[in-house]
Amino acid sequence: SLSNEELTERINAVRSKQGSRLLILGHHYQQDEVIALADLRGDSYQLSKMAAESGDCRNIVFCGVHFMAETADILANRPEKVAERNGHRVDVILPDMAAGCSMADMAAIEQVENAWEDLGELIDTEDITPVTYINSAASLKSFVGKHGGIVCTSSNAASVLKWAFERTSRVLFFPDQHLGRNTALTMGITNDQMPVWNPYDSELGGNTEEAIQNSKVILWKGHCSVHQMFKKEHVAAFRRDYPGIQILVHPECMQEVNEIADVSGSTGKIIETVKNAPAGTKWAIGTELHLVNRLKQEHPEQEIHFLSPVVCMCATMYRIDLAHLCWSLENLDAGSPVNVVRVDDETAQWSRTALERMLSVK
Ligand code: 13P
Ligand code: SF4
Repeated sequence: SLSNEELTERINAVRSKQGSRLLILGHHYQQDEVIALADLRGDSYQLSKMAAESGDCRNIVFCGVHFMAETADILANRPEKVAERNGHRVDVILPDMAAGCSMADMAAIEQVENAWEDLGELIDTEDITPVTYINSAASLKSFVGKHGGIVCTSSNAASVLKWAFERTSRVLFFPDQHLGRNTALTMGITNDQMPVWNPYDSELGGNTEEAIQNSKVILWKGHCSVHQMFKKEHVAAFRRDYPGIQILVHPECMQEVNEIADVSGSTGKIIETVKNAPAGTKWAIGTELHLVNRLKQEHPEQEIHFLSPVVCMCATMYRIDLAHLCWSLENLDAGSPVNVVRVDDETAQWSRTALERMLSVK
């Protein structure tokens, strides 16, 4: 097998040959040697904007997970963009098709449609805005597009919920209960107004009629297994052992962790927060391990700890490695692209409606 140096050299050979026809995008949770080869990196919101604004490229190779590649395909191939490129589509390539997201998989389109139907027997669905976290399959984005709903990311969830409440008095939020709950709590919505819908319970998702009737935000019973491993005990231990330490977490963490943290935000916000802090600041950070380790290396002037004593890494993000990246790039360069992620036209059209609503929310 090839060394990282050899793989990097071969990847760079394709990059220089392809020039501006190729755009490599990378999410902040990628491994160091992979993210180093990305033309642009970002959090989920920034990456979707980069795909939407991608200029004249012919291919996007996405170092991230499947829903991100789908989103890039939908936004990079908006009809007006394709027309600007004289009819050329952008092929979006995911170096390893097994790079999914276990949270996105916790809401299937059939389950969401069933929930919508069940809710309709009790409350007026015209008065519910469905909101999907960007960590979801394109079919869910299409569902929300069709039903007047919208997509959110961890960096704009509050503005998106505000947009939704200008339209209807209730929201159905999927798949991440924690992002939905943590965001709604900051808007004065209380836990008793946020029933959790369990798609595996056929009786109103495990709720009473009263709980649904009193709801403001119906949360889907999904979570990120990486972020759910950060516990309030970890926060307490750091506060005890490191006086003055700042706790910085991602809003996919549970309420009990999120509400005792000093700062909560997207990966982009986590990076900015550390970057803008004075030397000597002490942090315990609750997000994916590769990002925290990179922040440690990039900020030796600060003291950065990983919030959990156990390893919390995203196994699917980790599937993108130099070997898969090299393999997909060399196939692309040879004119026989592999692992092209293509959303069908109808799903793409409705998803675009929901994504464009998100991009227009300030
Ligand atoms: P952000 O980069 O948007 O914060 O998302 C985090 C995440 O879990 C991506 O899957
Ligand atoms: Fe999905 Fe969590 Fe991995 Fe993000 S970190 S891709 S939400 S499993």
